[in-house]
Amino acid sequence: MKLIGIDLGGTEIKAGLVDEDKGLLKKTSRPTEVYKGPDKIVENIYEVVKSLSPDLDIDAIGIGSPGSIDRKKGIVRFSPNFPEWHDFKLSKKLNKLTNKDVFVENDANSFTLGEWYFGKAKGMKNFVAITLGTGVGSGVVTHGVFMTGNDGIGAELGHIVVIPNGPLCGCGNRGCLESIASAKSVARHAKELAIRYPDSLVLKMAQTIENIESKHVFKAFEQGDYLAKTVVQDTIDAMARAFGAYIHIFNPEMIVVGGGMSKAGETLFKPLRERVKKYIMRSFIDTYRIEQSDLVENAGILGAASAAIFQTREEK
Ligand code: BGC
Ligand code: NA
Ligand code: ZN
Repeated sequence: MKLIGIDLGGTEIKAGLVDEDKGLLKKTSRPTEVYKGPDKIVENIYEVVKSLSPDLDIDAIGIGSPGSIDRKKGIVRFSPNFPEWHDFKLSKKLNKLTNKDVFVENDANSFTLGEWYFGKAKGMKNFVAITLGTGVGSGVVTHGVFMTGNDGIGAELGHIVVIPNGPLCGCGNRGCLESIASAKSVARHAKELAIRYPDSLVLKMAQTIENIESKHVFKAFEQGDYLAKTVVQDTIDAMARAFGAYIHIFNPEMIVVGGGMSKAGETLFKPLRERVKKYIMRSFIDTYRIEQSDLVENAGILGAASAAIFQTREEK
Protein backbone atom coordinates (compact mmCIF):
# COMPACT_ATOMS: atom_id res chain seq x y z
CA MET A 1 0.00 0.00 0.00
CA LYS A 2 1.02 3.60 -0.61
CA LEU A 3 -0.02 6.02 2.10
CA ILE A 4 0.31 9.46 3.50
CA GLY A 5 0.96 9.50 7.22
CA ILE A 6 0.14 12.68 9.14
CA ASP A 7 1.55 13.32 12.59
CA LEU A 8 -0.76 16.02 13.87
CA GLY A 9 0.92 17.92 16.68
CA GLY A 10 -0.10 21.02 18.60
CA THR A 11 2.50 23.16 16.85
CA GLU A 12 3.52 21.23 13.75
CA ILE A 13 1.98 18.95 11.14
CA LYS A 14 4.58 16.41 10.06
CA ALA A 15 3.68 14.34 7.05
CA GLY A 16 5.23 11.71 4.84
CA LEU A 17 4.67 9.55 1.82
CA VAL A 18 5.05 5.96 2.99
CA ASP A 19 5.33 2.73 1.06
CA GLU A 20 4.33 -0.29 3.12
CA ASP A 21 7.40 -2.25 1.92
CA LYS A 22 9.95 0.49 1.33
CA GLY A 23 9.13 2.70 4.32
CA LEU A 24 9.29 6.49 4.26
CA LEU A 25 9.81 7.92 0.75
CA LYS A 26 9.62 11.65 1.43
CA LYS A 27 8.41 14.02 4.09
CA THR A 28 7.40 17.58 4.78
CA SER A 29 5.99 19.73 7.56
CA ARG A 30 4.20 22.98 8.26
CA PRO A 31 2.77 24.80 11.26
CA THR A 32 -0.57 23.47 12.54
CA GLU A 33 -1.92 26.97 13.30
CA VAL A 34 -4.31 25.73 15.97
CA TYR A 35 -5.26 29.32 16.83
CA LYS A 36 -6.82 29.75 13.36
CA GLY A 37 -9.48 27.18 14.20
CA PRO A 38 -10.26 23.56 13.31
CA ASP A 39 -11.20 24.11 9.64
CA LYS A 40 -7.93 25.88 8.92
CA ILE A 41 -6.11 22.87 10.40
CA VAL A 42 -7.90 20.63 7.91
CA GLU A 43 -6.88 22.94 5.06
CA ASN A 44 -3.30 22.84 6.29
CA ILE A 45 -3.38 19.05 6.32
CA TYR A 46 -4.78 19.08 2.77
CA GLU A 47 -1.92 21.33 1.72
CA VAL A 48 0.78 18.93 2.98
CA VAL A 49 -1.04 16.00 1.37
CA LYS A 50 -1.01 17.76 -2.00
CA SER A 51 2.61 18.77 -1.68
CA LEU A 52 3.59 15.14 -1.06
CA SER A 53 1.43 13.68 -3.81
CA PRO A 54 0.02 16.34 -6.17
CA ASP A 55 -2.12 13.86 -8.12
CA LEU A 56 -3.13 12.00 -4.95
CA ASP A 57 -1.67 8.73 -6.18
CA ILE A 58 -2.17 7.01 -2.80
CA ASP A 59 -4.37 4.32 -1.27
CA ALA A 60 -5.27 6.07 1.96
CA ILE A 61 -4.38 8.79 4.45
CA GLY A 62 -3.67 8.06 8.11
CA ILE A 63 -3.75 10.74 10.80
CA GLY A 64 -2.33 10.35 14.28
CA SER A 65 -4.05 12.86 16.56
CA PRO A 66 -3.77 13.34 20.30
CA GLY A 67 -6.83 12.58 22.38
CA SER A 68 -9.80 10.24 22.44
CA ILE A 69 -10.65 9.17 18.92
CA ASP A 70 -13.73 7.50 17.54
CA ARG A 71 -11.82 5.60 14.86
CA LYS A 72 -14.93 4.12 13.21
CA LYS A 73 -16.35 7.57 12.54
CA GLY A 74 -12.99 9.34 12.25
CA ILE A 75 -13.97 11.80 14.97
CA VAL A 76 -11.73 13.46 17.56
CA ARG A 77 -13.91 13.34 20.66
CA PHE A 78 -11.70 15.11 23.18
CA SER A 79 -8.07 16.10 23.28
CA PRO A 80 -6.35 17.49 26.41
CA ASN A 81 -3.80 19.33 24.25
CA PHE A 82 -6.32 20.58 21.59
CA PRO A 83 -8.87 21.98 24.05
CA GLU A 84 -11.10 23.48 21.34
CA TRP A 85 -11.70 20.14 19.60
CA HIS A 86 -14.94 18.50 20.61
CA ASP A 87 -16.43 15.76 18.44
CA PHE A 88 -14.49 17.10 15.48
CA LYS A 89 -15.25 15.25 12.22
CA LEU A 90 -11.69 15.17 10.99
CA SER A 91 -11.91 12.22 8.63
CA LYS A 92 -15.10 13.36 6.86
CA LYS A 93 -13.72 16.85 6.31
CA LEU A 94 -10.45 15.68 4.79
CA ASN A 95 -12.24 13.02 2.76
CA LYS A 96 -14.39 15.77 1.18
CA LEU A 97 -11.25 17.56 0.00
CA THR A 98 -9.28 14.52 -1.15
CA ASN A 99 -11.83 11.86 -2.00
CA LYS A 100 -9.50 9.35 -0.30
CA ASP A 101 -10.05 7.03 2.66
CA VAL A 102 -8.97 8.94 5.75
CA PHE A 103 -8.25 7.03 8.96
CA VAL A 104 -7.82 8.77 12.28
CA GLU A 105 -6.12 7.12 15.24
CA ASN A 106 -4.81 8.32 18.59
CA ASP A 107 -1.25 9.60 18.03
CA ALA A 108 0.34 7.27 20.56
CA ASN A 109 -1.67 4.31 19.29
CA SER A 110 -0.34 5.20 15.85
CA PHE A 111 3.19 5.30 17.25
CA THR A 112 2.54 1.84 18.71
CA LEU A 113 1.45 0.45 15.34
CA GLY A 114 4.51 2.07 13.74
CA GLU A 115 6.76 0.32 16.28
CA TRP A 116 4.93 -2.93 15.54
CA TYR A 117 5.33 -2.70 11.75
CA PHE A 118 8.61 -0.83 11.39
CA GLY A 119 10.37 -0.43 14.76
CA LYS A 120 12.00 -2.30 17.63
CA ALA A 121 8.77 -4.08 18.54
CA LYS A 122 8.35 -5.48 15.02
CA GLY A 123 6.13 -8.53 15.19
CA MET A 124 6.20 -8.65 19.00
CA LYS A 125 3.16 -10.17 20.77
CA ASN A 126 3.29 -8.25 24.07
CA PHE A 127 4.62 -4.73 24.34
CA VAL A 128 3.77 -1.28 25.64
CA ALA A 129 4.72 1.87 23.75
CA ILE A 130 5.04 5.24 25.45
CA THR A 131 5.52 8.69 23.94
CA LEU A 132 7.03 11.48 25.99
CA GLY A 133 6.10 14.71 24.26
CA THR A 134 3.82 17.64 25.08
CA GLY A 135 1.64 14.93 26.57
CA VAL A 136 2.40 11.38 27.64
CA GLY A 137 0.76 8.93 25.26
CA SER A 138 0.71 5.17 25.00
CA GLY A 139 -0.47 2.11 23.17
CA VAL A 140 -0.58 -1.56 24.01
CA VAL A 141 -0.25 -4.79 22.07
CA THR A 142 -1.18 -7.78 24.17
CA HIS A 143 -1.33 -11.43 23.02
CA GLY A 144 -0.65 -10.18 19.52
CA VAL A 145 -3.75 -7.96 19.59
CA PHE A 146 -3.70 -4.19 19.34
CA MET A 147 -5.63 -3.21 22.48
CA THR A 148 -8.13 -0.36 22.36
CA GLY A 149 -10.74 -1.28 24.96
CA ASN A 150 -14.51 -1.15 25.01
CA ASP A 151 -14.90 2.35 23.59
CA GLY A 152 -11.69 2.34 21.59
CA ILE A 153 -10.13 5.00 23.79
CA GLY A 154 -8.14 2.74 26.12
CA ALA A 155 -4.37 2.69 26.57
CA GLU A 156 -4.26 6.19 28.05
CA LEU A 157 -1.41 5.15 30.34
CA GLY A 158 -0.17 8.73 30.68
CA HIS A 159 -3.18 9.64 32.80
CA ILE A 160 -2.56 7.04 35.47
CA VAL A 161 -2.29 8.95 38.74
CA VAL A 162 1.14 8.50 40.28
CA ILE A 163 1.09 11.34 42.84
CA PRO A 164 -2.11 11.95 44.83
CA ASN A 165 -3.03 15.66 44.60
CA GLY A 166 0.02 16.23 42.43
CA PRO A 167 0.38 18.89 39.72
CA LEU A 168 -2.62 19.80 37.56
CA CYS A 169 -2.78 17.81 34.31
CA GLY A 170 -4.14 18.95 30.93
CA CYS A 171 -6.98 16.44 31.43
CA GLY A 172 -8.20 18.31 34.51
CA ASN A 173 -7.06 15.77 37.10
CA ARG A 174 -4.04 16.00 39.38
CA GLY A 175 -0.89 13.93 39.62
CA CYS A 176 -1.21 12.00 36.34
CA LEU A 177 2.08 10.67 34.98
CA GLU A 178 1.70 13.33 32.25
CA SER A 179 1.59 16.10 34.87
CA ILE A 180 5.15 15.16 35.91
CA ALA A 181 6.87 13.33 33.06
CA SER A 182 5.75 15.05 29.86
CA ALA A 183 8.30 17.35 28.23
CA LYS A 184 5.97 20.22 29.06
CA SER A 185 5.76 19.25 32.75
CA VAL A 186 9.52 18.78 33.07
CA ALA A 187 10.01 22.27 31.67
CA ARG A 188 7.33 23.69 33.96
CA HIS A 189 8.89 22.11 37.03
CA ALA A 190 12.34 23.46 36.08
CA LYS A 191 10.89 26.94 35.47
CA GLU A 192 9.33 26.96 38.95
CA LEU A 193 12.62 25.95 40.57
CA ALA A 194 14.71 28.34 38.48
CA ILE A 195 13.26 31.24 40.45
CA ARG A 196 14.80 29.76 43.61
CA TYR A 197 18.04 28.60 41.97
CA PRO A 198 19.10 31.41 39.63
CA ASP A 199 22.64 29.97 39.46
CA SER A 200 21.47 26.73 37.92
CA LEU A 201 23.08 25.50 34.71
CA VAL A 202 19.58 24.95 33.34
CA LEU A 203 18.98 28.68 33.38
CA LYS A 204 22.44 29.39 31.93
CA MET A 205 21.71 27.06 29.01
CA ALA A 206 18.23 28.38 28.34
CA GLN A 207 19.24 32.02 29.02
CA THR A 208 15.77 32.99 30.23
CA ILE A 209 13.27 31.19 32.42
CA GLU A 210 10.64 31.21 29.63
CA ASN A 211 13.08 29.46 27.27
CA ILE A 212 13.65 26.47 29.54
CA GLU A 213 12.91 23.17 27.79
CA SER A 214 13.24 19.56 28.92
CA LYS A 215 16.40 19.13 26.83
CA HIS A 216 18.18 21.80 28.93
CA VAL A 217 17.20 19.94 32.07
CA PHE A 218 18.68 16.64 30.84
CA LYS A 219 21.87 18.32 29.60
CA ALA A 220 22.38 20.06 32.92
CA PHE A 221 21.63 16.80 34.73
CA GLU A 222 24.55 15.17 32.91
CA GLN A 223 26.77 17.83 34.44
CA GLY A 224 25.49 17.27 37.96
CA ASP A 225 23.38 20.41 38.23
CA TYR A 226 21.32 20.47 41.44
CA LEU A 227 18.09 21.87 39.99
CA ALA A 228 18.22 19.45 37.06
CA LYS A 229 18.86 16.56 39.43
CA THR A 230 15.77 17.40 41.46
CA VAL A 231 13.56 17.57 38.37
CA VAL A 232 14.99 14.48 36.67
CA GLN A 233 14.79 12.38 39.83
CA ASP A 234 11.13 13.29 40.33
CA THR A 235 10.42 12.56 36.68
CA ILE A 236 12.15 9.20 36.76
CA ASP A 237 10.46 8.18 39.97
CA ALA A 238 7.02 8.99 38.54
CA MET A 239 7.81 7.09 35.35
CA ALA A 240 9.13 4.12 37.29
CA ARG A 241 5.93 3.86 39.34
CA ALA A 242 3.83 3.94 36.20
CA PHE A 243 6.08 1.49 34.33
CA GLY A 244 5.90 -0.84 37.31
CA ALA A 245 2.11 -0.81 37.00
CA TYR A 246 2.31 -1.54 33.24
CA ILE A 247 4.67 -4.43 33.89
CA HIS A 248 2.36 -5.97 36.47
CA ILE A 249 -0.69 -5.62 34.23
CA PHE A 250 0.67 -6.58 30.82
CA ASN A 251 3.83 -8.62 31.52
CA PRO A 252 5.30 -7.01 28.37
CA GLU A 253 8.38 -8.20 26.57
CA MET A 254 9.29 -4.58 25.95
CA ILE A 255 8.35 -1.06 26.90
CA VAL A 256 9.46 1.06 23.97
CA VAL A 257 9.70 4.79 24.58
CA GLY A 258 9.60 7.56 21.96
CA GLY A 259 8.64 11.22 21.71
CA GLY A 260 10.84 14.30 21.94
CA MET A 261 12.02 13.76 25.50
CA SER A 262 13.23 10.21 24.79
CA LYS A 263 16.08 11.85 22.87
CA ALA A 264 17.75 12.31 26.27
CA GLY A 265 18.82 8.70 25.65
CA GLU A 266 20.76 6.78 28.29
CA THR A 267 20.78 9.85 30.57
CA LEU A 268 17.11 9.05 31.03
CA PHE A 269 16.99 5.32 30.36
CA LYS A 270 19.80 4.12 32.61
CA PRO A 271 18.45 5.53 35.88
CA LEU A 272 14.90 4.70 34.78
CA ARG A 273 15.71 1.00 34.33
CA GLU A 274 17.25 0.96 37.81
CA ARG A 275 14.34 2.75 39.43
CA VAL A 276 11.66 0.54 37.88
CA LYS A 277 13.11 -2.43 39.78
CA LYS A 278 12.03 -0.73 43.00
CA TYR A 279 8.39 -0.94 41.98
CA ILE A 280 8.02 -4.48 40.65
CA MET A 281 7.51 -7.87 42.17
CA ARG A 282 10.63 -10.03 42.14
CA SER A 283 9.20 -12.49 39.63
CA PHE A 284 9.14 -9.74 36.98
CA ILE A 285 12.86 -8.94 37.16
CA ASP A 286 14.49 -9.61 33.78
CA THR A 287 11.17 -10.38 32.08
CA TYR A 288 11.06 -7.10 30.14
CA ARG A 289 13.27 -4.57 28.37
CA ILE A 290 12.93 -0.79 28.44
CA GLU A 291 14.16 0.62 25.13
CA GLN A 292 14.41 3.91 23.32
CA SER A 293 12.53 3.95 19.99
CA ASP A 294 14.84 4.15 17.00
CA LEU A 295 12.25 5.54 14.59
CA VAL A 296 13.17 8.97 15.95
CA GLU A 297 11.75 11.93 14.00
CA ASN A 298 9.79 9.67 11.65
CA ALA A 299 7.95 7.70 14.32
CA GLY A 300 4.78 9.79 14.15
CA ILE A 301 4.59 9.71 10.34
CA LEU A 302 5.29 5.98 10.06
CA GLY A 303 2.84 5.46 12.90
CA ALA A 304 0.02 7.35 11.20
CA ALA A 305 0.65 5.44 7.96
CA SER A 306 0.62 2.19 9.96
CA ALA A 307 -2.72 3.16 11.48
CA ALA A 308 -4.13 3.51 7.96
CA ILE A 309 -2.72 0.10 6.98
CA PHE A 310 -4.14 -1.44 10.17
CA GLN A 311 -7.61 0.07 9.78
CA THR A 312 -7.81 -0.80 6.08
CA ARG A 313 -7.18 -4.45 6.98
CA GLU A 314 -9.62 -4.27 9.88
CA GLU A 315 -12.36 -3.04 7.53
CA LYS A 316 -12.02 -6.09 5.30
C1 BGC B 1 -3.57 12.43 25.47
C2 BGC B 1 -3.32 11.23 24.61
C3 BGC B 1 -2.17 11.47 23.65
C4 BGC B 1 -0.96 11.98 24.41
C5 BGC B 1 0.18 12.33 23.49
C6 BGC B 1 -2.28 12.85 26.13
O1 BGC B 1 -2.52 14.00 26.89
O2 BGC B 1 -4.52 12.11 26.46
O3 BGC B 1 -4.48 10.89 23.90
O4 BGC B 1 -1.88 10.28 23.01
O5 BGC B 1 -1.29 13.12 25.17
O6 BGC B 1 -0.16 13.33 22.59
NA1 NA C 1 -3.32 5.64 23.30
ZN1 ZN D 1 -4.15 13.59 33.10
